[in-house]
Amino acid sequence: MIIGVIGAMREEITPLLEHYKDYETLAFGGNTFYKVALGSKTLIIACSRIGKVHSALTASTMILHFGCERIIFNGVAGGINPSYKIGDLVLASKLCQHDVDITIFGHPFGYFSEGKVFTESDSVLNGLAKAVAKENGINLYEGIVATGDQFIGSKERKEWIKKEFNADAIEMEGASVAVVCDNLNTPLCVIRAISDNAGDEALVSYEEFLESSARVSASLVIKMIEKL
Ligand code: ADE
Repeated sequence: MIIGVIGAMREEITPLLEHYKDYETLAFGGNTFYKVALGSKTLIIACSRIGKVHSALTASTMILHFGCERIIFNGVAGGINPSYKIGDLVLASKLCQHDVDITIFGHPFGYFSEGKVFTESDSVLNGLAKAVAKENGINLYEGIVATGDQFIGSKERKEWIKKEFNADAIEMEGASVAVVCDNLNTPLCVIRAISDNAGDEALVSYEEFLESSARVSASLVIKMIEKL
């Protein structure tokens, strides 16, 4: 099985590359992909770069060029759900794009023509993530993840996203990868660890916890890959 693992930032894939150590470096489509041979499994790891377009490009490349049969997104997110603390893990049950607005045509926020507001992640991969978390005594929340090409660092915008989409966490890549995987029939799992609360202190918190939270997320992903 060929598994694609995407992180948006270098910090989000570094723990994986440090863990697997032995990899081949492949250049394609303006990006670098790291190929890890793990017996019957092959991993293709990449840093997509930030945002919906870059992450959609990376997911498409992984599936159509490298033949990835599963995609796991690993990284950090801003917490919207007040129960979430820094370093807590969230599994995305479904994802939406909070910055899509064709409401002028009578559609809800986040809706695309001939599309839908929410895209589901894969129940089998999510089941595995939950089982692995349980087995290792790791608390894993399951929630709605809202994606957009904006770093959210404002209480007002965060509250609006929460009200409009009932979102629990916010980031900048998950929903675009979900649309790619949905259309290309490739199971997707999105795991994120909280780095900030997307409010007025978000930037300071993000800068402080990006690396440590990315390691928390990667550690669960590595355990999942062992079981795939
Ligand atoms: N990723 C981590 N924190 C975030 C935030 N506050 N907004 C968008 N993406 C994020």
